[in-house]
Amino acid sequence: MTKILITSAILIMHVGISSAASSNKVENVYDNLGLLLLGGLALFVIIAAGITIIKILDAMVRDRQGENQVDLDVAKAESTPASEPLWRSLYRQATKAVPVSREKEILLDHDYDGIKELDNNLPPWWLAMFYVTIVWGVLYFGYYHLTDYGMSSHEAYTAEMAAAAQEVAAFRSTQTVMVDETNVTTMDSEADLAKGKQIYDINCVVCHLDNGAGLVGPNLTDEYWINGGSIQDIFSTIKYGVPEKGMIAWSAQIKPDDMQRVASYVMTLQGTNPPNGKAPEGEKYVPESESTAPTTDEDKEDTETI
Ligand code: HEC
Repeated sequence: MTKILITSAILIMHVGISSAASSNKVENVYDNLGLLLLGGLALFVIIAAGITIIKILDAMVRDRQGENQVDLDVAKAESTPASEPLWRSLYRQATKAVPVSREKEILLDHDYDGIKELDNNLPPWWLAMFYVTIVWGVLYFGYYHLTDYGMSSHEAYTAEMAAAAQEVAAFRSTQTVMVDETNVTTMDSEADLAKGKQIYDINCVVCHLDNGAGLVGPNLTDEYWINGGSIQDIFSTIKYGVPEKGMIAWSAQIKPDDMQRVASYVMTLQGTNPPNGKAPEGEKYVPESESTAPTTDEDKEDTETI
């Protein structure tokens, strides 16, 4: 009887949990807790009702067992007045409370400095909560750790992090304005370079000339750079300018991705060797991939120190 009750309660809960689990997992991890709590309570009520029914049936059977039970029944009748309501008799059975006059019967035989212990039952409400927590623990562990229904905190964390990483990636892909001197790369598509040339023609020609030969500003076609010749250096010179030398900071007028385009366009001017180019200024720029090869500079230094 009890078994049937428990099995059916578990079945009811199982159906509830599966339907809750079929919806989106990440969002509903915490919603399901409420459902589980409800299920646990339902289970508890069902079990309690089952036990009560069993006890009542048991009492009825005993009633019919006739003469040989008379003694027992009399003893029972003494302690159980007929008028006693059901809930009180249930409570009394659960606590097995003994009147103070009969406490001697349940006194345990130890005595610690005059402190003695009665062999009382645990309070039924406490015991009930204790069992509920055990059932709860088993269900919880099964639901979140053994089956695929619920996610453990670790799984939920991983899933949320993955979702967030995706969102960040999606956001990044829409944010071309996030280009700066630390992550800028050379653009080589014709469209970008054409746009770069357009920006150059509008803003830069007055000082650098249309072919980059240089006028007020230095020659942009040779290998010599005052502020460095990598894409990062050029981007940075355009963005922040060299105000004290007459090269203004363009960040207020040109968007980052357009500065990237014009910087990439400036790099295409390398080696075009226009007529009447301004004399080289600054240091010869050697791209990093090649800078390890020649040892001549070091040799020179050696001879100089000797
Ligand atoms: C008002 C004149 C002027 C304008 C306009 C101007 N520049 Fe310059 N630019 C200069 C000067 C002067 C320098 C030299 C700065 C220095 O000595 O450090 C320079 C330096 C540079 C450098 C660095 C060269 C090196 O050797 O390090 C780059 C790259 C450059 N300009 C690109 C541009 C671009 C791109 C534009 C248009 C968006 C532009 N400039 C507009 C005057 C100008």
